[in-house]
Amino acid sequence: MDQYVIKGGNPLVGEVEISGAKNAALGILPAAIMANESVVIDNLPNVCDINVMLQAIEGIGARVERLGPHKVKINGSTISSYDVEYEYIKKIRGSYYLLGALLGKYKYAQVALPGGCDIGSRPIDLHLKGFRQLGAEVEIAHGVIGAKAEELVGGAIYLDKASVGATINIMMAAVLAKGKTTIENAAKEPHVVDVANLLNSMGASIRGAGTDIIRIEGVARLHGTEYSVIPDQIEAGTFMCAAAATKGDVMVKNVIPKHLEAISAKLKEMGCEIEEFDDAVRVVSSKPLQCTQVATTYYPGFPTDMQPQIAAVLALAKGTSVVTESIFENRFRYADELNRMGANIKVESNVGIISGVNYYTGARVAAPDLRAGAALVIAGLAAEGFTTVDDIHYIERGYEDFEVKLAGLGAMIEKVSSEKEATKFVYKVS
Ligand code: UD1
Repeated sequence: MDQYVIKGGNPLVGEVEISGAKNAALGILPAAIMANESVVIDNLPNVCDINVMLQAIEGIGARVERLGPHKVKINGSTISSYDVEYEYIKKIRGSYYLLGALLGKYKYAQVALPGGCDIGSRPIDLHLKGFRQLGAEVEIAHGVIGAKAEELVGGAIYLDKASVGATINIMMAAVLAKGKTTIENAAKEPHVVDVANLLNSMGASIRGAGTDIIRIEGVARLHGTEYSVIPDQIEAGTFMCAAAATKGDVMVKNVIPKHLEAISAKLKEMGCEIEEFDDAVRVVSSKPLQCTQVATTYYPGFPTDMQPQIAAVLALAKGTSVVTESIFENRFRYADELNRMGANIKVESNVGIISGVNYYTGARVAAPDLRAGAALVIAGLAAEGFTTVDDIHYIERGYEDFEVKLAGLGAMIEKVSSEKEATKFVYKVS
């Protein structure tokens, strides 16, 4: 099994190019099959979850042509099956978007119940409620969700929680429905806007994406287009935190600084200097880090997907920080691992109390999930000595060339697949 071996202590310095947003792309690829013409998607991140989604799309008969490592042409006119049973699809969270896309286009879909990172209970009741309100019959049997309708008719849907997944899924089901749909208490995350923009460039009529109320006017069909995925807010935030923790100076390029405001604000409170450019953010961490409070919430609040990474930085800050997780209940599984590296984190229910320490000490740790895994890498980069991170397949689900990008900033990190390779790396950098 692959691992990262890290020799900590080098400040990260230089420039890093951020990839396209994984979570936006997971909605965009299913949306692209809704036309019977070619849709070209650019700036796709080359990560495992995206490749699984592309294979699933191919598996139901759509034509998928790779035009480059980050560019793909999809044509949904050849789809011959509306059952997504591809064995890996259930492992990714975004698999549920195929439900909205197929139901919207063919009024019939069968998709294995989604998996994804174990960060808490992840119900999809709001997605299903939305489909039902558009007139679909929905049932779950044998681990598969089935949805069908004679016709879908627009309606008024209120989401009890501003769920990203439910908002995108209902939007996809509604774009080809008859009449008007409104989604109230819609999620406002950047990826919701990105999927809406793609669908509009395919001929859909969606207004209000990025606000609490999304209004959709059903159209008869969607057409081909070319579209580029937005930059990944979470990948960018992760590099910002890595710069902060290692006392570095990093220019994070190809980002939308507005999407990073909540993260920038917290790093500033901790004593980092943040400089914003049109499509880049520079993080300089030259002063002692200070404690602060972080509470995750819906966009434009602090993202839950950045909670472990900022905690890895707060563990090195002077004083006691409090991190409150309000979206998912199981997001502190990195705490024990960071404590093994010398951190002092106590978790009570959905609150992490972090008493800052002066340094981490390298240790062997295991990534419990995608973002928690990234947090352990950040700690390893800042730590004294060597850290080995196991189970990096989680990290590879969402970070493109993570170790290559970090090495480009001066980090001493290598992906190894055997003890022999690990020992070789240790000799090389000692
Ligand atoms: C997406 C992201 C995930 C991110 C999360 C919040 C993808 C593939 N994943 O996950 O990385 O952490 O947004 O930004 O894009 N809920 C319900 N019923 C539902 C749906 C959600 O109760 O039907 C609850 C969830 O338990 C959670 C909250 O709503 O407490 C938000 O979840 P949601 O925004 O749907 O997250 P995901 O779409 O699963």
